[in-house]
Amino acid sequence: MTIKKIFAIASAKGGVGKSSITAGMAIEAAKNYKVGLLDADIYGPNQHLLFEIDNTKPQIIKKNDKKLFKPVEASGVLINSMGLILDSEKAALWRGPMLSGAIKQLIHSTDWGNLDILFVDMPPGTGDAYLTIASEIKPNHSILVSTPNKLAQHDLIRSIELFNKLDIDILGYIENNISDNKFTNDFDLITKFKIKKLATIDFSNDIYNFDPNKTHISFKAISSLIKSLV
Ligand SMILES: Nc1ncnc2c1ncn2[C@@H]1O[C@H](COP(=O)(O)OP(=O)(O)OP(=O)(O)O)[C@@H](O)[C@H]1O
Ligand SMILES: [Mg+2]
Repeated sequence: MTIKKIFAIASAKGGVGKSSITAGMAIEAAKNYKVGLLDADIYGPNQHLLFEIDNTKPQIIKKNDKKLFKPVEASGVLINSMGLILDSEKAALWRGPMLSGAIKQLIHSTDWGNLDILFVDMPPGTGDAYLTIASEIKPNHSILVSTPNKLAQHDLIRSIELFNKLDIDILGYIENNISDNKFTNDFDLITKFKIKKLATIDFSNDIYNFDPNKTHISFKAISSLIKSLV
């Protein structure tokens, strides 16, 4: 089992589009590469819903006496998520060691096979999940997501500080306009932190009503950037 490149998609701020963007990038990248997607949001997994596989359970296989989950394939992407394994209400009560235990299990008990790219959809915040992902999976790069909003901008800085502390490369951030009002923000603080804006994604009905069988044009530019790194 080898994984060439691992990308974590993150932001301390909730609801800025991490999961939608991760899904869109994974679908786009899967046209050219072998792609996996790990939903590291244990309390609020979403990937099984975006990919419309919420009625599917991962198969359990045995390899060298170890029980492993076979990721579920959808739109060319191999997916594993707590949403496929457990009722989300159960996971919502987990804390601390149980949370990191669950993430470790998703990481080490999934038979990803050989992948070119593994995308990791991170939960909001800067908590335990980040430490576990940094130590257990060691992403090669992170991509931050933010909205053009003052509070999101401040949370973006918290994410930058966290990734710097965890020694994980930050490729840059994606400005995602989750509102159909045209907001702008010059992100002065970001200039100070020398974080590149990788792309701007406008509000789109296609992202809002995510269809895993459709190509979303917004993800093409980011995908070509990723291709240059694989
Ligand atoms: N560019 C966009 N255009 C339209 N709707 C969007 C866009 N990006 C995200 N959304 C919508 O915004 C909401 C939040 O998106 P999403 O769940 O992907 O964010 P998240 O950062 O993963 O949230 P969480 O922190 O809860 O994990 C969803 O309803 C999604 O459909
Ligand atoms: Mg999410």
